[in-house]
Amino acid sequence: MVMPTLELKPHWRRMLTGDRPTGPLHLGHYVGSLKFRLDLQDKVECFILVADLHVLTTRIQGLEEVGHNIREVVLDYLAVGLDPQKCTIYLQSLVPEVLELTWLFMALVGVPRAQRIPTLKEQVRDLKLDSASMALLAYPILQAADILMVKADVVPVGEDQESHLELTREIARRFNRLYRPVFPEPDYPIGPRLVGLDGQAKASKSLGNVIFLSDDPETVRRKVMSMYTDPQRIRADIPGRVEGNPVFIYHNYFNDDRDEVADLQDRYRQGRVGDVEVKEKLARAINRFLDPIRERRAYFAARPHLVEEILKDGSRRARQEAQNTLQEAREAMGLAYFRGAPVGAEG
Ligand code: TRP
Repeated sequence: MVMPTLELKPHWRRMLTGDRPTGPLHLGHYVGSLKFRLDLQDKVECFILVADLHVLTTRIQGLEEVGHNIREVVLDYLAVGLDPQKCTIYLQSLVPEVLELTWLFMALVGVPRAQRIPTLKEQVRDLKLDSASMALLAYPILQAADILMVKADVVPVGEDQESHLELTREIARRFNRLYRPVFPEPDYPIGPRLVGLDGQAKASKSLGNVIFLSDDPETVRRKVMSMYTDPQRIRADIPGRVEGNPVFIYHNYFNDDRDEVADLQDRYRQGRVGDVEVKEKLARAINRFLDPIRERRAYFAARPHLVEEILKDGSRRARQEAQNTLQEAREAMGLAYFRGAPVGAEG
């Protein structure tokens, strides 16, 4: 196992994907999605959105921090090497056309179909909500509008997004049959899930078992030294289990020194290496992996105006796409009556 790479399909022209600005991105995001984006940015046209409108589906207070989170997520994108020359990075709410397209799509989706989305029940349960809001029910329809607005044909996501992408494809199919073929049915390559530092199935910010891309070297070291490892192995001379061991899973993804990994695995299986050595080498490897990311982050963090320009520029470009697609959708539906200069914009 090494970093996942994406096998390109020849018909892919455009990628779109993105994240809600709910906090900093971590190594799980890198393995599960950012790596695929980096593979794709040299090969197809790329759109990456910060989905701030989606935040309202689960949170209606304490929204002041969303502005800060938007900045941090964009910094994470730039830090990992997503290149604004190649990728259109944009803010969802700066493309308000997406809400009109959402409305058109809402007419094509039955309430029971929207209620069957598994993430809906999960969110209500995990966030202890009394009931889902209309916005939460419409979550995947807004996501479908994000995707189809730019006619993306490839949407790299984590496995938790699968049901949303299935609905997106259904909406595209339904629209194309009812009116005329306007939208592609996007493929959605799913990146691997990274195990948590504590051995839980998933690295997740809410579980507190992650290394953030923005963690400093000492924090990384501390987190690695307290990682869950083979619990049977109470002494260094007892043979240990490499398979399924989070420390070795991380070595395999992030340690570019393959000889070192092979050597550590051998000696671990034979009971000839201590946990401290294995972990210290992992901390060093992860810090090596993060160093160029830290450097790019520092460059952009020192230039807040540049970051803002990148987001605004991207949003202008995305908005142009959105206006074209929305007009096309309206025409296909027979809604293009009464279109002239926008009312109120005459002079
Ligand atoms: N729902 C996605 C998440 O939480 C974020 C998102 C919004 C998205 N719109 C999208 C992802 C469109 C892919 C495509 O991770």
